Amino acid sequence: MVREAIEPLGWKCVFANDIAPRKEEMYRRRFGGDHFLLGDIHDLGVGDLPPGLDLVTASFPCIDLSLAGNRAGLAGRHSGTIWPFLDIVTALCMQRIPPSAVLLENVTGFLTSRGGADLAKVCRRLAAVDYVIDVLFVDARWFRPQSRPRLFVAAKQRERGGPWQPADSRPSRVRPAAVRRFEAAHPKLPLVDLPLPAPPAETTDTLVSVLENLPPDDSRWWPEDRVADLVAEMAPPNRCRVKELLAGERDGVATMYRRRRHGRTVGELRPDRLAGCLRTPQGGSSVQFLVDCRSGAPRIRPLTGREYARLQGADSFPIKVNDRQARLGFGDAVCVQAVRWLVHHAFDSDNRAALSGAGAFRETAAVQYPYAPPTSGRDKPQRPLFK
Ligand SMILES: C[S@@+](CC[C@H](N)C(=O)[O-])C[C@H]1O[C@@H](n2cnc3c(N)ncnc32)[C@H](O)[C@@H]1O
Repeated sequence: MVREAIEPLGWKCVFANDIAPRKEEMYRRRFGGDHFLLGDIHDLGVGDLPPGLDLVTASFPCIDLSLAGNRAGLAGRHSGTIWPFLDIVTALCMQRIPPSAVLLENVTGFLTSRGGADLAKVCRRLAAVDYVIDVLFVDARWFRPQSRPRLFVAAKQRERGGPWQPADSRPSRVRPAAVRRFEAAHPKLPLVDLPLPAPPAETTDTLVSVLENLPPDDSRWWPEDRVADLVAEMAPPNRCRVKELLAGERDGVATMYRRRRHGRTVGELRPDRLAGCLRTPQGGSSVQFLVDCRSGAPRIRPLTGREYARLQGADSFPIKVNDRQARLGFGDAVCVQAVRWLVHHAFDSDNRAALSGAGAFRETAAVQYPYAPPTSGRDKPQRPLFK
């Protein structure tokens, strides 16, 4: 979805990797994909990559960073895939072919994992190979009717030993107080404010605008008795929300997650006109449902793959897989408009001249970064491993 976001800006995607065959299938069906390498990033080396990369980006697994996960942090098996990615960035830099920009994306738990120690370790790795780093918070709800707060790390290569202007201390929407606290706690890191404009106000699009019009006899609607059972089991605030929808509030629709509470499955509705954060449907509880009261009675069905695509801003993405696989692909991905906005303002070619070198960072408060690049970065052999 990063590719979906930035190709309209004029970027050309020359390489992609994922370990999941179902992700590969969706990618290839959309983009072709002679450059897609299916396999474990631990087996990937610089020799697998084409030369002359401007931007390398990782939207890496959140399982060990999210509240719902095990909080193993970047020592975890899943979220720890950031390390082989950073090994590759380091190797590119050590070979004097540094990508001018690096973009990382994950849940906001990336900021707080191990009290900020995990993010600081990532920043140290980037700083050691001469990147300045902006830690940013972007929410999909500014662009699409989905609540999806995410942490981005946007790093720019600088002249070796070149100056940098430390980040401002004032909180803002993209750099809220928690980000400012992280910056203040790590004064030796080259943390900067890239010259981004204020983000757009929250979108006025609402959930109802992304819904497909499924016929009443579509098999994806739950049977009436199943709906009645779930509504009867709801906690009072959620039953009350169903009543409000029946009265026509919030366009008569809301999204719902099912949760296990005291051994029972209960439905929890959002109280606003947005979808909740889409997730990968690995278990029944992570599928997001639609509660639709527009016909005068509550009806329930899972959100469709097309609705997931629209909520991620990929409205016209051709979906040639079933709903389940589409939910897997889009639930795990990034919001197209959020990434487009960020890459355009942080890295886009129009801004490149302003961003490269010291010009973007006022000399008066210039600071030299105290860490030296590693002398023994992990550098993989040059033979392509996937061919
Ligand atoms: C948060 S998802 C991002 C997906 C994708 N970048 C997108 O925007 O649609 C994380 C991805 O990491 C992949 N992944 C997990 N472990 C991996 C590994 N060891 N090597 C390569 N990819 C891996 C998962 O299959 C998953 O698709």
